[in-house]
Amino acid sequence: MKIAICSDHGGFELKMRLIPFIEALGHEVSDLGCYSEASVDYPDMAFPAAEAVARGEYERGIAICGTGIGVSICCNKVRGIRCALCGDVLSAELTRRHNDSNMLAMGGRIIGAETAKAIVKTWLGTDFEGGRHENRIAKITAYEAEK
Ligand code: RB5
Repeated sequence: MKIAICSDHGGFELKMRLIPFIEALGHEVSDLGCYSEASVDYPDMAFPAAEAVARGEYERGIAICGTGIGVSICCNKVRGIRCALCGDVLSAELTRRHNDSNMLAMGGRIIGAETAKAIVKTWLGTDFEGGRHENRIAKITAYEAEK
């Protein structure tokens, strides 16, 4: 899959550890910034990354800030994005199976690199279940279309 990844300074170190891990899983990763630990504003990375995923340039996106909260708020404001903030593997599995999330948010100051790798591997490797969940996603999409 083509994956967009972005972070602010609070997520930079974790992002740099995840990029080779995701590539080793066989995915193509584009780093949409930031590119150092210098302080930046997370919306400046999260909005462009989410918009690129929404346009279909990437199948999935991963956004990391200190807590994961700021980037998840931004990503979920972009039409067509369903961004799940995950700190555990079960949530990563269920958000793919039930929410068909197309972006994953994580907190670089909240979880360790090994937990993050397990979350990412599960999130990238789990399919949407469809069925009863289709209708729920359709309601989210319909709500977005009205706005
Ligand atoms: C940056 O200090 C921090 O506020 C940011 O990384 C994130 O945690 C915001 O939600």
